[in-house]
Amino acid sequence: MLGAAAGGGFPQWNCGCANCRKARARSPDVTPCTQECLAFSADGERWYLLNASPEIRSQIESFAPLHPRSARHSPIAGILLTNGDLDHCLGLLSLRESHPLTVHATDEVRRGFVEDNVLYRTLERFPGQVTWKPFSEMAAPLTVQAIPAPGKAPLHLEGRASPAPGDNVGLVIEHRGKRLAYFSGAAGVSPEMRAAFDSADCVFFDGTFWSSDELITLGLGTRRAEDMAHLPVESSLKTLAGVKAKRKIYIHINNTNPMLDRTSRERRQVEAAGWELAQDGMEMEL
Ligand code: MLT
Ligand code: MN
Ligand code: ZN
Repeated sequence: MLGAAAGGGFPQWNCGCANCRKARARSPDVTPCTQECLAFSADGERWYLLNASPEIRSQIESFAPLHPRSARHSPIAGILLTNGDLDHCLGLLSLRESHPLTVHATDEVRRGFVEDNVLYRTLERFPGQVTWKPFSEMAAPLTVQAIPAPGKAPLHLEGRASPAPGDNVGLVIEHRGKRLAYFSGAAGVSPEMRAAFDSADCVFFDGTFWSSDELITLGLGTRRAEDMAHLPVESSLKTLAGVKAKRKIYIHINNTNPMLDRTSRERRQVEAAGWELAQDGMEMEL
């Protein structure tokens, strides 16, 4: 787990909420984290990044298996994008040092990033600099299934194209019968998602906001969690109550979410329900 936070990170540069203030004061009640990114591998040699956060450079440096093994090399075999939000994609533009990249994404997400984007030309400097592939073309022995999740197009594309199921997906990553379900942005839980959770060993789910009106109550915004296509944690705890996965982990946690504070009632409630909070530097073997 290279980054556990929602867009903005924790603390967020322009935020003085109670959590962000505690983080800046180095309070033991909270742990700062960078924006969402997970690295995974079947063999410890070839690695994949799940989402490309604006903090990708320091995230790669933070984990030795992602470092080059020779003068020009990267063990990063591919990057998977779950949607076109900038906190998931902007990092691609930071990987422009003339290195071939393979990116797995839906057609909607690819078009949203590539079309009419003059900055994308930095990744078109030589033929084959970026190879876009569907999730179904993941290299063996890993398989990846993309499942549409209730969501929306990225903010900067709103109103440009009609909404499509490929705008926002969750992934089920499978290797030797072990399954990881990763849904870092979801406005709800479809039957197909629920089936994926019920057969997964580990579930990652949208932990952006605790409540619908979190930003409004704090005076930090006008939009409800639902307007941003994030199911609040107080709802998902109920909706996902019966999920039996060995590990259930909230990810993409916004800095305003009260559960980030170890001393909070909300944190106790999450942990009592068997959920963990993702943290930068967390490692696991399935
Ligand atoms: C989200 O998770 O809702 C987006 O990252 C918001 C944004 O693009 O600022
Ligand atoms: Mn986000
Ligand atoms: Zn904050």
